[in-house]
Amino acid sequence: MSTLIKNGRIVTADSDFTADLFIEGETISQIGKNLNVTADEVIDATGLMVFPGGIDPHVHLSMPFMGTFSSDDYTTGTRAALFGGTTTVIDFILQTQGKSLRHAFEEWSGRANGNAVGDYSFHMAVTDFNETTKPEIKEMIEEGITSFKTFMAYKGALMVDDRMMVALMEEVKKQGGMVTTHATNGDMIDYLVAKNLKAGNTAPLYHYLSQPEVTEAEASNRFADMANYTGVPAYIVHLTCEGALNHVRDAGKRNQKVMAETCIQYLTLDASLYEKNFEGAKWVMSPPLREKKDQAALWAGINAGLLQVVATDHCPFFWEQKKMGEHDFSKIPNGAPGIEHRVELLFSEGVTKGRISLNKFVEVMSTNAAKIFGMFPQKGCLAIGSDADILLFDPNEKHTISAQTHHMNCDYSAYEGWEVTGKTKTVFLRGKKVIAENELLAEKGYGKFLKRNQVNGVI
Ligand code: URP
Ligand code: ZN
Ligand code: ZN
Ligand code: ZN
Repeated sequence: MSTLIKNGRIVTADSDFTADLFIEGETISQIGKNLNVTADEVIDATGLMVFPGGIDPHVHLSMPFMGTFSSDDYTTGTRAALFGGTTTVIDFILQTQGKSLRHAFEEWSGRANGNAVGDYSFHMAVTDFNETTKPEIKEMIEEGITSFKTFMAYKGALMVDDRMMVALMEEVKKQGGMVTTHATNGDMIDYLVAKNLKAGNTAPLYHYLSQPEVTEAEASNRFADMANYTGVPAYIVHLTCEGALNHVRDAGKRNQKVMAETCIQYLTLDASLYEKNFEGAKWVMSPPLREKKDQAALWAGINAGLLQVVATDHCPFFWEQKKMGEHDFSKIPNGAPGIEHRVELLFSEGVTKGRISLNKFVEVMSTNAAKIFGMFPQKGCLAIGSDADILLFDPNEKHTISAQTHHMNCDYSAYEGWEVTGKTKTVFLRGKKVIAENELLAEKGYGKFLKRNQVNGVI
């Protein structure tokens, strides 16, 4: 099967020109003006932008968490991602304490294999690093899982202490991987949650008030220091606030590159949503939404190159699941839906509103994640030989986000009624047209597991 995409405005992280793009099989075989080729299908992309497929390196599909499971599985989650222009996701395997990494890898693979529609890979969240798990770091890297996630929060569940963190960092450094972290001070949060509950403060607002900015800033700094000491490539997931960003900047002053991601919700939504009584549970996530001044700092952080990636931390729960915490905010499953809207919201709020350039948009929604996580140039770019993961995007089409029309398996939207400018029209994944005319054209099982390469941690 071959496809010729004619006259599109091809935008990558570092170029922007009008040309034709020719797909043969699963890859891009030619890019140029007026290509003289015979194709099975010819698409006129005049007036459309042509982007590399989006990469969301932070999602939780069918995640066992807080006594329930996140409500999108590999089929519904990757399908919704494709509708919004994200062709590759990286999910998190969670090691069960007392069990092996291999055991967790098999469990997650069992859920994903044959079910995904879009391409996927895994990070390994290490919750119990010891002499038995130590040799498994190398094994996991050989399986193509080259990034190891830690939680500095969720005390009593997923959290690791500093002793475990440093030991893990030493081993990951030795084996050529990367350590990523959920950087918030779990002990301090644990104390503030207990204090609030004891005072009878049970509403979602107190989820926010139990995770003040300092809990994230402190942990981000501690993580950066430990990474500097061990020399391991380091990446902070879902960074939300100015205080944490300042520590990323500080690390740069000693020529340490701590890479960092923010998520679309932290750029677009703020903590005033927690004032809506229990409805605020829709946005209960960790870290919580922050203030407007933090949003401004995050946009600036993207432009300054301190934040390389915009992800989603997609972790949806039905309203019925959220109600587990109706009388106790600490029992509200943490997380919100977002996988479908990241690309369009980032374009609309970022490019259309003049906060970031078109090239920066492509960088942070696709290219940088591919580079950081060892998928470049197979993914994340429009180049000869790369996977033909391609979005045809109308920069002017407006539409309104709603749970009535989204494809995520969640009965509410975090952005209900938001009007966005810019729409994903047609999506190719490895040469196959998977979305067109608002329809899915691929079957479950089309999505492939991606073995990732080792990376040196600096882009
Ligand atoms: O609230 C969140 N973020 N839920 C998912 C788990 C995590 O911390 O990323
Ligand atoms: Zn949309
Ligand atoms: Zn997290
Ligand atoms: Zn997460």
